Amino acid sequence: MPETDRDKWESQLEAVRAAFTAAAPLAAAEAKALDDIRVRFLGRKGELTELLKLLKDFPIAEKRELGPKAQQTKEHFEAAIARRQAELEETLLQSKLSGQKIDVSLPSYREPRGQLHPLTLVMDEMTRILTLMGFSLAQGPHVETEHHNFEALNIPKHHPARDMLDTFYLKDAPGVLRTHTSPVQIRVMEKQKPPLRIICPGRVFRHEEVDASHSSVFHQIEGLAVDKEVSFADLKGTLDFFLKELFGPKTQTRYRPSYFPFTEPSTEVDVRCLFCSGAGCPACKRSGWMEILGAGVVNPNVLKAVDLDPAQWSGFAFGVGVERVAMLRLGVNDMRLFYENDQRFLVQFDENFA
Ligand code: PHE
Repeated sequence: MPETDRDKWESQLEAVRAAFTAAAPLAAAEAKALDDIRVRFLGRKGELTELLKLLKDFPIAEKRELGPKAQQTKEHFEAAIARRQAELEETLLQSKLSGQKIDVSLPSYREPRGQLHPLTLVMDEMTRILTLMGFSLAQGPHVETEHHNFEALNIPKHHPARDMLDTFYLKDAPGVLRTHTSPVQIRVMEKQKPPLRIICPGRVFRHEEVDASHSSVFHQIEGLAVDKEVSFADLKGTLDFFLKELFGPKTQTRYRPSYFPFTEPSTEVDVRCLFCSGAGCPACKRSGWMEILGAGVVNPNVLKAVDLDPAQWSGFAFGVGVERVAMLRLGVNDMRLFYENDQRFLVQFDENFA
């Protein structure tokens, strides 16, 4: 039987398949070798490609038979090449990865840990005690109206506290840098009806000579309680508890009669100087005591300024100097240390006030 074109084509396909197997694509050691095999069989002039081109000259019936065989061979070649290609890529990746090992046991650099400023620590502690006692936090602006900083607090125009020497007035606008946290009393009572109990920790500003116990920018915590039949006894009870919590149960305090336009009666409260235990030193100006707060029963004029009837409501208020408390509490005898921010000073104080 003479060899037909078809027989010839089929034996050629067999030969190409055998050649492909002999070329061993699955054993190709690198991408280049594998690609050479692909080009040899599947490229534009590849051995299988050339064979496929011949198919178009066959009669339709034979095409139907030979076509699928050709297609199957092509898919078989492509699959083998793709599989090996994936294997080679994986091997390459693994060798790259093993070349760049990460040593997770290597100790890292120790970052210096930040910490809160000692004034913040002490202010937070004072706030914690007062909020436990039922006071809630209030806030007010640093730039105040003269009305809130003075008038509504019963400080009339001629009062020495308004002297240019004490108060920073704004240059191009009406308003002052608040000289105390007391204007927050007014702001709260303007908005909130009694009974109320608030504190306001914040920064205040006074034109003052800087020395061991004075600064032109310092901090206060204002306290205000307004209710029915609030008396000086409530004020004393509150402050005694607060000061003993803050400085310890043996704390000695002294209530001196004083004057503030916004309270009547008024008092200034001193704590025994912890540096000299009363003997007298520069920190206490040789008096043996350190003044840490002013307080009193809210003046009826202040209540009237916010439309509260003094016959119905009464209250007490106090303003504590945070720096003074911090000096006593931390054993620091010069206020200026708090503002110089020398790390050697700051790092000595953590949450335990060590
Ligand atoms: N505002 C006063 C001051 O700055 C302190 C104070 C507050 C006194 C509340 C009485 C009542 O000195």
